[in-house]
Amino acid sequence: MTALQHLAAGTRYLVQLAEPDDFEAWRERARALVQADVPPDRIAWVEPGGSGDLFASAGGAGQQRLPAPPADAPPVRANRRFVQLARNALLHRDPERFALLYRLLWRLQATPRIMEDGADPDIRRVEELAKSVRRDSHKMHAFVRFRLVENEDGNEAHGAGEHYVAWFEPEHHILRANAGFFMRRFANMRWSILTPAGSLHWDGAVMHEGPPAQRGDAPTGDPIEDLWRGYYASIFNPARLKVGAMLKEMPRRYWKNMPEAALIPELIAGAQRREAAMVDAGALDFAERPESLAGIAKAIHACRQCPIGALDNHAVMGEGPRDAVLMIVGEQPGDQEDFAGRPFVGPAGQLLDRHLERAGIDRSGAYVTNAVKHFKYVQRGKSRLHQNPGAKEIDTCRWWLEGERAVVRPRLVLAMGASAARALLGKTVSISKARGAPLALEDGSELWITAHPSYLLRLEGEARAAQAALFDADLASVKARLAELCA
Ligand code: URA
Repeated sequence: MTALQHLAAGTRYLVQLAEPDDFEAWRERARALVQADVPPDRIAWVEPGGSGDLFASAGGAGQQRLPAPPADAPPVRANRRFVQLARNALLHRDPERFALLYRLLWRLQATPRIMEDGADPDIRRVEELAKSVRRDSHKMHAFVRFRLVENEDGNEAHGAGEHYVAWFEPEHHILRANAGFFMRRFANMRWSILTPAGSLHWDGAVMHEGPPAQRGDAPTGDPIEDLWRGYYASIFNPARLKVGAMLKEMPRRYWKNMPEAALIPELIAGAQRREAAMVDAGALDFAERPESLAGIAKAIHACRQCPIGALDNHAVMGEGPRDAVLMIVGEQPGDQEDFAGRPFVGPAGQLLDRHLERAGIDRSGAYVTNAVKHFKYVQRGKSRLHQNPGAKEIDTCRWWLEGERAVVRPRLVLAMGASAARALLGKTVSISKARGAPLALEDGSELWITAHPSYLLRLEGEARAAQAALFDADLASVKARLAELCA
């Protein structure tokens, strides 16, 4: 629509944000407009960066300064579901997204339960946008491939000066929103991600944003590609091969940036033979990760991605409300959990329950789960002795925890023990250093880290009392933070 068409249609206010992905700026503006009682059909939301002449041609001929909300305006209602969806939907490339979200926010004021109406066209559209953005982020996490940059003399810059550069073409405005993910995953590398919409540069300590780039700005091909190819060939699971699903998951347009894609035809060719061998060996079929808790629960039973799943045990799924604000993550089910099929029912769980109760945290309101879904043990006579999962096993099982997080979308995650912390952060941290203050996770939730209750169970006397006091203090902080988040 041109400015004149907007004016003819009764539009009074043209609103343009500075950035296409700035949810907080949109929220602030939208709240003020709701409080100033400006209905959606009076506002034209203009795509940032574009339509400069829309303003020029509007030239004051009816475009008005945005009204200030009255001092006694009631607070704006926006429930958690709306904010969660809106945060993602706003990153979509659809120029109508700002108007759509504003209309929904406006309608929420009169009908607070509207978000529960799955048939409402506005809600369905926002859900579609949010899903497409989540999918784009998932693709970015999976398909960004760094290549080592060469010096001017044509040699690779090894050592402290090593610099890795990746080229990626996101569909939506997801670059900034995913900066934290890459920062944590490649914290010790110096890297840049170049895209047609902007670039990110991490020097190991500070993140910088840069201008849009072109494909030719990124290097093509280096010896790292052999590693990627080797890695991909080793993790390629022929029993999972479904060509249609693979193309959906890894569309051809990403292949050109992915060294391992060259292997795909060869791997497909050998897949049937290898699948037969795996079925004989008892491995199970996988599909892409389910998007429901029930689906994940079913899938983890079939999971044989690490050796723990092949022991004589049962997968234990997390439990709790699907929309829990708090997610509690332990290490792995123990002997009793394995039998009961529920997390934290044995001695560590009973101790946890006592501490939670003391802190005033209602366990039944939390989603309780584990970093690793199967019980790892060694058989000693009739006993099954607990064994810590290894880093590789935790990193593999993280796939399922991420699936649970994507469904539950907790605002606060409490990781108990080093395995849980690793599963959330992708790296090992020291509990004594990490506890006591929140860390930001890539989906906007907060991570709090504390000790595992079974660590307390192994201590005695004063040492146990001291650790129990620290554990209580951590839970008290979590309780206080939950109260703030839910206020
Ligand atoms: N320890 C854990 O980490 N999880 C359980 O479910 C039980 C004990």
